[in-house]
Amino acid sequence: MQKMNRRTFLKVGATAGAAMMTGGCFLWPENIPPAVRQGKALYDVLIIGSGGGGMRAALEASKTSGLKVAVMTKMAPTRSATTMAQGGINGAARTTDSKDSPEVHAFDTVKGADYLCDQDAVEYFTERAPEILFELDYQGIAFNRQEDGRFHQRKMGGSTYARAAYSADISGHAVQHTMFEQCLKANIDFISECQLLEVVAPQERLSGVVALDMRSGTVLSIAAKSVIIATGGYGRAYWVRTSNPYSSTGDGIAAALRAGIPFKDPEMVQFHPTGLASNGVLMSESSRSEGAYLLNKNGERFMARYAPKAMELGPRDLVCQSVEKEILEGRGIGEGLNAAVYLDFRHIPKERIMERLFQVRQLALNFEGVDVFEKPVPIRGTCHYSMGGIDVMDYKTCATKVPGIFAAGECSCISVHGANRLGANSLTEVLVFGKTAGAGAAAYVKGAAYADSKEALADGVKRWEEQFAVATGRSSGPSVASIRDRMALTMWNNAGIFRNEQGLNQALRDIQGLQEEYKSAFVGDSSRVYNTAYMNYLEIGNLLQVAQAIVLGALARKESRGSHSRTDFAKRDDKNYLQHTLISRAGDGFKTEYRPVVVTKYKPVERTY
Ligand code: FUM
Repeated sequence: MQKMNRRTFLKVGATAGAAMMTGGCFLWPENIPPAVRQGKALYDVLIIGSGGGGMRAALEASKTSGLKVAVMTKMAPTRSATTMAQGGINGAARTTDSKDSPEVHAFDTVKGADYLCDQDAVEYFTERAPEILFELDYQGIAFNRQEDGRFHQRKMGGSTYARAAYSADISGHAVQHTMFEQCLKANIDFISECQLLEVVAPQERLSGVVALDMRSGTVLSIAAKSVIIATGGYGRAYWVRTSNPYSSTGDGIAAALRAGIPFKDPEMVQFHPTGLASNGVLMSESSRSEGAYLLNKNGERFMARYAPKAMELGPRDLVCQSVEKEILEGRGIGEGLNAAVYLDFRHIPKERIMERLFQVRQLALNFEGVDVFEKPVPIRGTCHYSMGGIDVMDYKTCATKVPGIFAAGECSCISVHGANRLGANSLTEVLVFGKTAGAGAAAYVKGAAYADSKEALADGVKRWEEQFAVATGRSSGPSVASIRDRMALTMWNNAGIFRNEQGLNQALRDIQGLQEEYKSAFVGDSSRVYNTAYMNYLEIGNLLQVAQAIVLGALARKESRGSHSRTDFAKRDDKNYLQHTLISRAGDGFKTEYRPVVVTKYKPVERTY
């Protein structure tokens, strides 16, 4: 290969600089296929969101020959929240623990969920999980291995056996890149840096989507016979303490609500017990799987008080609530938002940490200034996962109530996680149900006529062009960042790990007040090219809707179940609340309805760990 000398380097640099200054972008590939830009594309299956669920769906849909499939994302395709999943992927593949089975996995999941999941969906999920692990193995994922070459499985919280296959503590990253490679191989179209504005389905007749191309600022319409929403969660409603990326802003859920699809179990927000004290960044549960302890300020392994058998490997709701109790009862360190207890790794051999937890060590070093070899790390609960989501009516296809609209991954509620998801069930879920949604949408388009409503799409574009002009044209108004911060603070303080009526009413008043302010919010930038101020404005608007639904669901659920822990209703109430919450739009507000949970073989009993 020819070496690049200093002269060539400067020449290339100067040419690139000149091209950038003249607006040329020859160094980067197009973010949008030409047919989409020209308004000529019609996709059979259009997936919104390029995380593990979205890409797995695309891959499956592309197996039906003749279908045109695309994945649209508001970022670059490999930058989804899936990359931030650390600990592993559950499936009773029995490569490490021969006693495991899909039935035990199902029972662990149902018990972990505090019985709020639909048990038929859970059985479907755990039966398909092992095959998903072997598929990944064949697709070339870099799993940690055993002497005999089979992948190793670790035991995560709330699991009876070791069933999480993993790539050190970057499992999601490995899944994401494996999926991306497979999608490239399958020639799937990617529509990148396009923000979803609306799923266009007037009178429940799907026409496609309207989106904002961030690079040019153009409002585009994309016609589609089916749409799979796979846009991830809404952890950024708790902006001050979350392990989620900045992009987890509930965009798909807000769009589904506008299209008439209910938001199921919004109040079921998972708080992960071990976020870094200073910023909520994740210290993977695999730390505890590899032997790290939780200690209070007195050096006591306090989990003995709350989960004497499972200890640090109890389910997340229980461990997180225990961490918070230690802090509230004065056995933590520090003050306010950054109060904490400790996660101690010092007894774990350094080689094991470097082999299996190298990212965890680096994150503690970068953000907390602590080397886990030498000192325990201050940690506290952090908003981690959205168990609620777009109401999926049929777990065998991932169809919603609107024909042609499907949902998969964290933005969906299928529902297998109920009131508390088990660690390492999330990557499995995105892959099992991504695959299901891809097949479901592919089958749907074969049998359904396309609405072909060019008018509806054109109306959508016009509406959003006007909205852009109005929102970016204001010369003053409340700042978007201030609305965001006040939303996050009230959500953390009043709709967080512990909740009660008074706090939730306060949160509702706050969110409603912020929604009023939002109507006249000041964006401060009316330019077209990569207008991130406008993008943030849209995202905060979506989060405000999600936040209101979380609070409404939490206020109405007068019991404690899983991650929804009410200090004024401390017990689970199966008589009244073995039901899913369904929040839908009604005029300018929301209405709340319920649907009974599906129980097959596991009768609800009290959980002990
Ligand atoms: O802690 C973790 O590694 C997170 C895993 C998960 O949410 O499944």
